[in-house]
Amino acid sequence: MNDYRIAAIPGDGIGNEVLPEGIRVLEAAGKRFGLSFTFDHFDWSCEHYAKHGRMMPEGGLDLIRKHHAIFLGAVGFPGVPDHVSLWGLLIPIRRDFNQYVNLRPCRVLQGMKSPLAGRGPDDIDFYVVRENVEGEYSEIGGRMFRGTEHETAMQESIFTRRGTDRVMRYAFELARKRAKKHVTSATKSNGIVHTMPFWDERFAAMKANYPDIRADQFHIDILTAHFVQHPDWFDVVVGSNLFGDILSDLGPAVAGSIGIAPSANINPEREFPSMFEPVHGSAPDIAGKGIANPIGQIWSGAMMLEHLGHKDAADAVVRAIEVALADPKARTRDLGGSANTVECGRIIAEAVATA
Ligand code: NAI
Ligand code: MG
Repeated sequence: MNDYRIAAIPGDGIGNEVLPEGIRVLEAAGKRFGLSFTFDHFDWSCEHYAKHGRMMPEGGLDLIRKHHAIFLGAVGFPGVPDHVSLWGLLIPIRRDFNQYVNLRPCRVLQGMKSPLAGRGPDDIDFYVVRENVEGEYSEIGGRMFRGTEHETAMQESIFTRRGTDRVMRYAFELARKRAKKHVTSATKSNGIVHTMPFWDERFAAMKANYPDIRADQFHIDILTAHFVQHPDWFDVVVGSNLFGDILSDLGPAVAGSIGIAPSANINPEREFPSMFEPVHGSAPDIAGKGIANPIGQIWSGAMMLEHLGHKDAADAVVRAIEVALADPKARTRDLGGSANTVECGRIIAEAVATA
């Protein structure tokens, strides 16, 4: 019953260095909490593309459709255009498996320093809920008159009632489980006059179902300023694919280093596996040196544990990360220390036993 089959996709660059540390910590948590994991490894990556002309084999998704979850490192590397690597691997997984929620906790952990002066763990603790399968990131559009002075590019946004309602419902349900019980919507209905007023209408309709939750909304431009100036205002922030993408990089940035930020691509109905991955990319500038911070991957593993129904194990992993952050010997270079990836991962795995 507590045996889990996990598809492990290290991907590119530092994905290959941090994923093993994520696995090390999951195994340590499993040992303590009576969970067992079988990791099936898939070498889908830009290297795979260089060899076979595809990021993953044809029918690849069928190989991981029945897994309990997907644990991914990072995808993308110089030599393969980013839109090719992204649309060849990450986006098909997100869409085929209907992972319509992209969830990112933005929290200053004990032992971390926010780049915002005077802000600490009490001020920054919110979630960004990003719509992950439709909106601005659509395949509908085209290019005409290429290479001439009449060259034209057009791309349509897709906002469906079903897609909008379900991500907003997820945000309200999440807020219900939290102390502040507050949802903020990211909009731009003053400038984008069809889809965003629709988004606002659906938000108003959804909020009527949740009288116990405080709800408000801001236009995306001022909202980014508020993230920096008033991060303590937020609890759960819901946005479209594009706005959520921007906010979900800004949020972790105000909470500390990109190297520690985790994310989850969730299919809330559990018809398909959900995918857990650090926010950062493949970091070509430091890849192969063994110095990447594995905490983003490890914290993503904690989100996976929580999704699988083991909040106690997830909390222990986050506490173990906090223990490590307080230990100068565990800090990687991006956090001002000199630990390498494996040293940091080992200290966290050891701490999980008692944290
Ligand atoms: P990046 O996140 O890979 O790197 C940005 C900067 O942060 C670099 O200086 C890097 O050294 C540093 N950094 C990132 N993760 C770190 C870690 N764990 N420890 C220490 N330092 C870390 O973003 P970039 O350079 O824009 O993208 C590189 C490649 O990764 C591109 O091909 C991009 O498409 C891909 N990418 C993939 C993502 C994914 O798989 N979800 C997300 C973001 C980028
Ligand atoms: Mg992004």
